[in-house]
Amino acid sequence: MIYEVLSAFISYFIGNFSTSYIIGKSTKNIDIREHGSGNAGATNVLRTLGKKAALYTFLGDSLKGVLAVLIGRFLAGEKGALISAIFVVVGHNWPLLLKFKGGKGVATTIGAMMAIDPFIGIFSLALGIILIIKTKYVSLGSILGIVSLPIFMVYRGGNRLIVSIILAVMIVFTHRENIKKLINGTERKIGQKTDTR
Ligand code: G3P
Repeated sequence: MIYEVLSAFISYFIGNFSTSYIIGKSTKNIDIREHGSGNAGATNVLRTLGKKAALYTFLGDSLKGVLAVLIGRFLAGEKGALISAIFVVVGHNWPLLLKFKGGKGVATTIGAMMAIDPFIGIFSLALGIILIIKTKYVSLGSILGIVSLPIFMVYRGGNRLIVSIILAVMIVFTHRENIKKLINGTERKIGQKTDTR
């Protein structure tokens, strides 16, 4: 039990290291959360700081998902890996170190799922990328890509299915404003700086 709790604790604090916040502060001395959509994530870095910074943000936020799962697995096996997947995303979305205002968890969820189940992770990632390319809505591709995780995961079942459902619910929750905008047609397309009117 102690190792499961330790996995959760360590993963939560790994999640707190917000790549977009660090890049914003270190390159332009800005708080990314005060720009664009206000989200501490790669999409908002793309519209605020450009492509290179967005790529680094995506990689950094994904890698922390991978790292947390590897640590969880080392400490407590499959159970630890699954607990870490949830807590690293919780730490990214609601970081104590940033007064609980973080990102929406897309890149970190992708990294965590890749480390848990690369086969399923790659399917969801591919679906998300195709949807982003086709629709130009990063939020739509992100939501549907991650919501597809539990659908693909039905084939595995067990605790992986439960964790993928939790991750999908968190993505829908953190994207609730994006969903409203997608419905009323004001959601920003990729790279767009302001809402569509
Ligand atoms: O991962 C976040 C993305 O899906 C939407 O970001 O900044 O447009 O709300 P944003």
